[in-house]
Amino acid sequence: MTSQENIVGLDASILMHPKIWEASGHVQGFTDPLVDCKNCKKRFRADHIMEANGLKPDFRPNDKKHQLKCPECNGELTEIRDFNLMFKTFIGAVAGEANEIYLRPETAQGIYVNFKNVLTSARLKIPFGIAQIGKAFRNEITPGNFTFRMREFEQMEMQYFVNPKEAAKWFESWRKQRVDWYLDLGINKDKLKTRPHEEKELAHYAKAACDIEYAFPFGSKELEGVHNRGDWDLSRHIKFSGQDLAYEDPDSKEKFIPYIIETSGGVDRAGLTFLIDAYTEITGGRTTTTESNKETEVVLKLDKRLAPIKVAVLPLSKKDNLIKIAKEIYQDISKDFNCDYDETQAIGRRYRRQDEIGTPYCLTIDFESLEDNKVTIRDRDTMKQERINIKEVKDYLKEKF
Ligand code: GAP
Repeated sequence: MTSQENIVGLDASILMHPKIWEASGHVQGFTDPLVDCKNCKKRFRADHIMEANGLKPDFRPNDKKHQLKCPECNGELTEIRDFNLMFKTFIGAVAGEANEIYLRPETAQGIYVNFKNVLTSARLKIPFGIAQIGKAFRNEITPGNFTFRMREFEQMEMQYFVNPKEAAKWFESWRKQRVDWYLDLGINKDKLKTRPHEEKELAHYAKAACDIEYAFPFGSKELEGVHNRGDWDLSRHIKFSGQDLAYEDPDSKEKFIPYIIETSGGVDRAGLTFLIDAYTEITGGRTTTTESNKETEVVLKLDKRLAPIKVAVLPLSKKDNLIKIAKEIYQDISKDFNCDYDETQAIGRRYRRQDEIGTPYCLTIDFESLEDNKVTIRDRDTMKQERINIKEVKDYLKEKF
């Protein structure tokens, strides 16, 4: 987002005034359909049981009856109850209904209530966006599938404020940009698809919506949502706060409540897809030593931009003179790149450890380095090794990244 001159960042509060969640519709409508098993006492989401049985969940609000059985023990299930996903806590020292507040279930509302602050302080003109990454909390009935569904997770959301006449155009533009973002970072094209929401599936705020879905090992599921939220959010915040959040175009003097195009992704879900697509097993090994040929090697072929460690500095032996050079190089390059330093075990094992966590480059200091002031740089994917002058290492890496 930093490459877009009309999108600014924000870090809004996790705890906000409870009226915000009334205005947003979350107090009333942010629910999942919950059923309890009368026999084994386990809890499930009715829509998940239907999906697992190959049925399309098509509940209407307040639907209670169903034909479902417990997926664990085939026992009888209770009627459907709407279960609000927001976590409650208390503000101040006194517990009680008057002091109840919520942990934010999405970062979006923090952006809407700051819309006017950002508009005036950053001197923006429509169309413009406000983006935010931060924690969101939901009391999920059935968390699971590693980082796919958690109760505390990280969202990356961007709200793009547009003239209502241009909303359809921007919705399509952002849908495409978000798909391209995943592809550019290495997501397998065949596993990604966009699925427009049907009319009855649309959330209370949405005029149009589509899910970017990924074929996870446990089924094709939502990775990110792109929504045309119309003027729902700003209109509601105008109503509940009494503030004027309308926008006047400085050139045409046209006055309107901006429509919002939202891109709403989960950092943890995105991370999971990057890991799945990067994880590569090489049977029989790809290195030349007899020992490693016997084993299956793992290489995490993450895009270089995503690799948590960019460079590993590996002195070939624990001899003082090699360690001295290695540590000097580490001190120098770790200012620009996230580095790891490892002097334990055989070099082959160290390479493989770095391959497994996706480190794109390993930098080895050997006895020749003492003579020629050069080090070996090994590429994770090609395993090609190059001798580079120590003085040129930083520039070499800068170019690679
Ligand atoms: N502001 C709109 C919004 O929050 P959402 O579809 O409820 O929309 C957006 O959530 C994204 O947040 C999802 O596409 C998903 O990537 C992520 N997400 C939602 N619930 C999650 C959970 N329990 N665990 C991990 N990620 C979650």
